[in-house]
This record gives sequence, C-alpha cells and structure tokens, in this order.
Amino acid sequence: MLKIRDLNVHYGGIHALRGVDIDVEAGQIVSIIGSNGAGKSTLLNAICSVVKTSKGTVEFKNKTLPKQINKIVEMGISQVPEGRLIFANLTVKDNLMMGAYLRKDKIQIQKDLENVYGLFPRLLERKEQMAGTLSGGEQQMLAMGRGLMSDPDLILLDEPSLGLAPLLVNTIFEIILNIKKMNKTILLVEQNAYKALSIADVGYVLEQGTIVKKGLASELIKDPVIQEAYLGKKKV
Ligand SMILES: Nc1ncnc2c1ncn2[C@@H]1O[C@H](COP(=O)(O)OP(=O)(O)O)[C@@H](O)[C@H]1O
Ligand SMILES: [Mg+2]
Repeated sequence: MLKIRDLNVHYGGIHALRGVDIDVEAGQIVSIIGSNGAGKSTLLNAICSVVKTSKGTVEFKNKTLPKQINKIVEMGISQVPEGRLIFANLTVKDNLMMGAYLRKDKIQIQKDLENVYGLFPRLLERKEQMAGTLSGGEQQMLAMGRGLMSDPDLILLDEPSLGLAPLLVNTIFEIILNIKKMNKTILLVEQNAYKALSIADVGYVLEQGTIVKKGLASELIKDPVIQEAYLGKKKV
C-alpha cells in the first residue's frame, strides 16, 4: 500500500533521513521505533510533504504521492502529528468535523462521527467542551478521532503515547488495535518500543536517520540487541 524507497531529507547541513526504505501492506500495523531525534517525525512529515525530500520516492496504492496535502488526504492518508495540534478554542465536535473538511458525503460523515464517538466515549461526553480544556490523553484521542474523520485508508501516528500516564498509554494502544479492526492501515512511530512492537505486525528500527533493522514485530521484540537498546533489558 505504501512503498518508500531511498528517502533522504536534509535540514541545511543535517542529514536527517538517509536512504530509508519502508513497505506497509494494507491491513497492517507497522511500527517504526527509534529514540528522540532518530528522524521519526521527519519520516512522517516527508511522506506528507510537510518537509522537503532531497531524494527518493513515496508510492501509495501504486501511485506517486502528490505534494499537496489536500490531494494526499483525498488519496486516503491522514496524519496525526506529534504534539496533536488541536484547535483549543473550538469544541471537541468542531475539531472532529475539521478532519472531514474535504468531504461532501454528509450522511457518511455523520456515521463516521458516530463511529469516532463509539471508539472514544470520552469525546462523546465532552463534545461541546472547548478542546483546550481536555486532558493530555483526551487531546490525543481528539487528534486521532480527527484523523479518522477524513475516512483514511492509512493513518500516520506520531508518538501517540508521548507524555501520557501509563494507564492511558495502554488505552491508546488498545484503541490503535481497534482502529486496525475498522479496516485501517497504520504506520506508527514511537519511542515506546515495547508497546509499539507488541501491537504491530512489522517493525523497523530507525537510528540517526537510517533503518538499521526490520522484521516481524513478534521477532524484533525477542531480539537481544533490541531488548538491550530499546526495551530496557540487559544482556545476560
Ligand atoms: N525543522 C528542523 N530544522 C532543523 N533540524 C531539524 C528540524 N526538525 C528536525 N530536525 C533534526 O532532525 C533530526 C530528526 O528529528 P525528528 O524527525 O524530529 O526526530 P524524532 O521525531 O525521531 O524525535 C534531529 O536531529 C532534529 O534535531
Ligand atoms: Mg518526533
């Protein structure tokens, strides 16, 4: 579904992505794990042309992705950015509706809104509340809900668990599994390597802009080198 080849990004003198190859098949959760500064956000921003690439190709559904964000959304990709970027002075419901701004199918939009409320009952309870008054976890739910409102086939999630309390982290990862069950494909980037790999089909390890390892998530999670570097386990 998504095919990335030899992707490179430079920020001035910083070579932030170096020859990245990634494949995401329809129906999968693919997790990219990597520490702070590895290039995870850069990767998602490069897919969506939020940052300029210096080399490489991104194909989605066998077509080269256009550079205009509206066209990318129309093709079926939705990005839930790091830091969430919700509209603090709009209600929860209006924030969700912003996600559907390119759509005209009113009946289906209403159905998707109900599905989002089904996935996130907290958002239903707070639908008339200003988004700026939500807790961090609720804001993450809102950002994910808004991402679903464009009815994407592929969702790009940038560190959805960042800064959340452990219980909420579990909730967010359970919700990601439920989103997969809604026939969505998910590309997830995370510092929480254990959680990200435990829900994924396939995993990649990104270090300083380079993919250093890829494989079945169930195997990566057992890999001693990954365990030591990312899962807080010492070699014995
Ligand atoms: N807008 C920018 N200008 C210059 N350097 C940047 C910019 N954004 C990110 N970087 C650098 O690129 C590298 C990768 O950053 P980023 O993609 O944000 O990593 P991650 O999301 O994995 O924490 C880091 O060294 C970071 O400092
Ligand atoms: Mg980041």
